[in-house]
Amino acid sequence: MAVNIQLADPGTANRRHFLQRVLPFLPLPGRAGIVDLGCGDGYYCGVFSTVSRALTEGGLPVYRGFDLDEAALDEARERYPHAEFCGADITNGIDPAALECGLTLCCETLSIVGDLEGILERMLTHTRGAVAFDFLWSSDGCEEDRVLPLRVLPPFQYHLRSQRNAFATLQRVMARHPDWHLKNTSSWAFSPQAMEDFTGVPGIQAENVWWILTQT
Ligand SMILES: C[S@@+](CC[C@H](N)C(=O)[O-])C[C@H]1O[C@@H](n2cnc3c(N)ncnc32)[C@H](O)[C@@H]1O
Repeated sequence: MAVNIQLADPGTANRRHFLQRVLPFLPLPGRAGIVDLGCGDGYYCGVFSTVSRALTEGGLPVYRGFDLDEAALDEARERYPHAEFCGADITNGIDPAALECGLTLCCETLSIVGDLEGILERMLTHTRGAVAFDFLWSSDGCEEDRVLPLRVLPPFQYHLRSQRNAFATLQRVMARHPDWHLKNTSSWAFSPQAMEDFTGVPGIQAENVWWILTQT
């Protein structure tokens, strides 16, 4: 289901694309909240706060973001005092109890951390409801995963996955969690020029693929 987004800051086209698909899965007021892995400065906390009473009412844990970047977290804490922002490495540094929630997001971050399987495994283990994430894959037929420099967010690197490996990883994780199902997938094509602007490497065709999984 697509929703009509009318926000003061609808963000980049990539973010709008994602928001249209994920807003229907926001937890209801009074239900378990949202965990945002690699939350940065809390952009999604801001958006959700304007569209969902679940974040500002109800008294339950509402939005909890994790990131390594303390400066971004400080900005987020100042802007969104009703939410919780924690410094942690999402690849291994989070107490499992803190991951329990009704919706887990991992936006524009899985391509940077690389550990797709480990993070998906934790998301499906600790979420009761829906998970939403994106990562880059190669759309030029390349069969191997590649690690590319990332000019715009040093010292991170892009993990560009082959479609075959990405599907195999998702299938492995979902086979261990038969109560989870693919609800929505969509992709956003990066032009070779955009990839070159991000990485300095010419000739790469990539798609950012968004996924939403839900639990029965
Ligand atoms: C491109 S930003 C996306 C931020 C936010 N999700 C958004 O969409 O606005 C990627 C974020 O991932 C964070 N990050 C990268 N590796 C991480 C790790 N291992 N643990 C926690 N955060 C990490 C970076 O600090 C950065 O804030």
